[in-house]
Amino acid sequence: MNATNIQLDAAGNLKHLLTVEGLSRELLTAILDQAEGFTGVTQQAVKKVPLCRGKVIANLFFETSTRTRTTFELAAKRLSADVLNLNIAASSTSKGETLLDTLHNLEAMHVDMFVVRHSASGAAHFIAEQAAPHVSVINAGDGRHAHPTQGLLDMFTIRRHKGGFEHLRVAIVGDILHSRVARSQIAALNTLGAAEIRVIGPRTLIPDAAESLGVRVCHDLREGVRDADVVIMLRLQRERMSGALLPSAHEYYQLYGLTEERLSTARPDAIVMHPGPINRGVEMDSQVADGPRSVILEQVSNGIAIRMAVIAMCIGTQNLRGLGAEATYDV
Ligand code: CP
Repeated sequence: MNATNIQLDAAGNLKHLLTVEGLSRELLTAILDQAEGFTGVTQQAVKKVPLCRGKVIANLFFETSTRTRTTFELAAKRLSADVLNLNIAASSTSKGETLLDTLHNLEAMHVDMFVVRHSASGAAHFIAEQAAPHVSVINAGDGRHAHPTQGLLDMFTIRRHKGGFEHLRVAIVGDILHSRVARSQIAALNTLGAAEIRVIGPRTLIPDAAESLGVRVCHDLREGVRDADVVIMLRLQRERMSGALLPSAHEYYQLYGLTEERLSTARPDAIVMHPGPINRGVEMDSQVADGPRSVILEQVSNGIAIRMAVIAMCIGTQNLRGLGAEATYDV
């Protein structure tokens, strides 16, 4: 175990993925490169490679999910791992069993990796600290804290469209305050050297001292997206809001909903992103969501390659050795 970063083993290899923060540019780039190598697997007649054959991955989703849970499952299956999808509502946690007891019981079944989504910030970190030494943990979203594979798949999507990060102006719009996705995106963009990161939203949805994250704060949407290369819209996280932070969804849309007209100040080749699920007519217009600049469904597809890369780097490392990002895989 690395003394300064629980996420790395003694040799500096990825052991857990809990947050993008603290990971080097080299490591983030290596994950993106590895994912690039996996995109070809989807084109194969048999969409499988044997890198994690014999490994067992347990998906523990204590919060709802469509994209993350299913793409983690697909990624694990494409790596030939055995996958357990724990039905939390029907599991013994609903009978009062503690999280730790559930984990230790799964460890007794020789699980190699936990993929964890939880409403409590820090849950994945806690599990990584408590898990057996051979077990890896991937954070699939914890409270407001982090959603590292979402941040990475977004970087992968941006790199595929823009080639790199150094000259990019990126606008992140909406509920920054409650967004684990925004935190992971901002950390990754800073590490990868984006030229400018702007966060745009009402004062009630921007954290105090947001500038300390390395971003510029703006409250006007047109100004915020001006000359942007990438416009990332965020979902309003109503389930994490306590009190009246917004007058109404309709008023929010009037000021911060992305329309073709408001997007017109961005660069002509700007791409539009959203991690999903989208609230159409609140965060953005359907014309934009389904329009030519939207890469929202590409983000979902890219999630499989990124999650394959992260799983393989954490628990398939021995099998990965000697395989470059450009490698093709035969079953
Ligand atoms: N982007 C994202 O995390 O979506 P899900 O909640 O559907 O997993």
